[in-house]
Amino acid sequence: MVEKNKTENQGNDLMEKIVSLCKRRGFVFADSEIYGGFSGFYDYGHFGLALQNNIKNVWWKKFVDSRRDMYGLNSSIIFNPKVWEASGHVAGFSDPTEDGKQFNVMFKTQVGAGEEATLSYLRPETAQGMFINFKNTVDAFHPKLPFGMAQIGKAFRNEIAPRDFIFRQREFEQMEIEYFIRPDDWEKYFEYWRSEMLEWMEEIGLDMNKVHELEVPEADRAHYSKRTIDFEFDFPFGRKELFGLAYRTDFDLKNHKLEYIDEENTEKMIPHVIEPSMGVDRAFLALLVSVYAEDEKDGEVRSYLKFKPSMAPVICAVSPLLKNKAELVEYANTKVYAPLKAEFGRVAWDDNGNIGKRYRRQDEIGTPFCIVVDFDTLTDNTVTIRDRDTGDQERVKVSDLQKYIKEKIN
Ligand code: GAP
Repeated sequence: MVEKNKTENQGNDLMEKIVSLCKRRGFVFADSEIYGGFSGFYDYGHFGLALQNNIKNVWWKKFVDSRRDMYGLNSSIIFNPKVWEASGHVAGFSDPTEDGKQFNVMFKTQVGAGEEATLSYLRPETAQGMFINFKNTVDAFHPKLPFGMAQIGKAFRNEIAPRDFIFRQREFEQMEIEYFIRPDDWEKYFEYWRSEMLEWMEEIGLDMNKVHELEVPEADRAHYSKRTIDFEFDFPFGRKELFGLAYRTDFDLKNHKLEYIDEENTEKMIPHVIEPSMGVDRAFLALLVSVYAEDEKDGEVRSYLKFKPSMAPVICAVSPLLKNKAELVEYANTKVYAPLKAEFGRVAWDDNGNIGKRYRRQDEIGTPFCIVVDFDTLTDNTVTIRDRDTGDQERVKVSDLQKYIKEKIN
């Protein structure tokens, strides 16, 4: 019990540190904060947005751009309500409330005015967008089985108890794949996607010691699933669902009365579906938990985020040693910052406070390299590059900077 309380306290402590760092450094803000916030909603600031984009870009590159069998989609958020009747969500997408009643967690909305108004819903998963565009995709691209559809976008659930920062929100983002296969192949592709998902988690830099797999028992599976694995993660508030992998059978296509005609042998059939489903916000939080670190530097505790350089919201920060020395500022701005900014985009200019303060700030943002232009630079055209994790500094020629950073990113 004492051990458990100790672990819980450490978890709370770590969560508090992450939440406050996120606000202080412009990653994540409570939504509508000036009006007291709004439970279950969060806003992402400049660096949070950069991190989200990095997460989504790595996902899209791995699962769409580098494959031949994947078709992207950006569907609308509000559909004809018949979609949600056919999908089973109107009847069954519910959670129990405290008094034991079932509460459908789809957000209702009214489309149109007056008597013409129709009741519809904000999508609670991006998946249905892909099912209802299955025929359009087949007709437009003539894919052969197996093939997949992929979508990144917002999803909405009127969660009864939103909690744990961005872990359980009412508005969040999903990255989903519907992979269409022949029924007999389902076990093979289930295994295949399980390892693809693990590979991606490793690629973005999740602490894989904190990732676990849970075989979800039938009673806990979604209404459409014949097999589900939850990838769980050791968050500071406990081991919780990170992502899901489901075998959705032909449930959705059958209910939408869709089928596939194999062009080679003109056979009509309903493909089955393997669905890797990943939340952007949960990936974001798990990554922060994975990279958050503390150590002692110069007699004080510093906190920093040890992102892989490719994932960091800021790849490098450029500083003139003194901001009131015009020649340093001019050099840093035109010969260092401008070309790096043009090449890498995610480059910060930081001349606020003394150098120590700037390093601490960039450490908390997770910037892997701080580049300082000093008086020697003016004569020898070299700069200091300080490594975030070790604090080590080296002199690098200004003309070699782009190459240096590129090598570190790759
Ligand atoms: N299409 C399948 C589907 O939506 P899910 O397990 O309900 O399955 C998939 O959701 C993923 O979406 C979860 O594993 C999680 O990463 C994310 N997710 C679900 N509900 C969420 C919420 N309320 N807040 C943040 N992320 C959520």
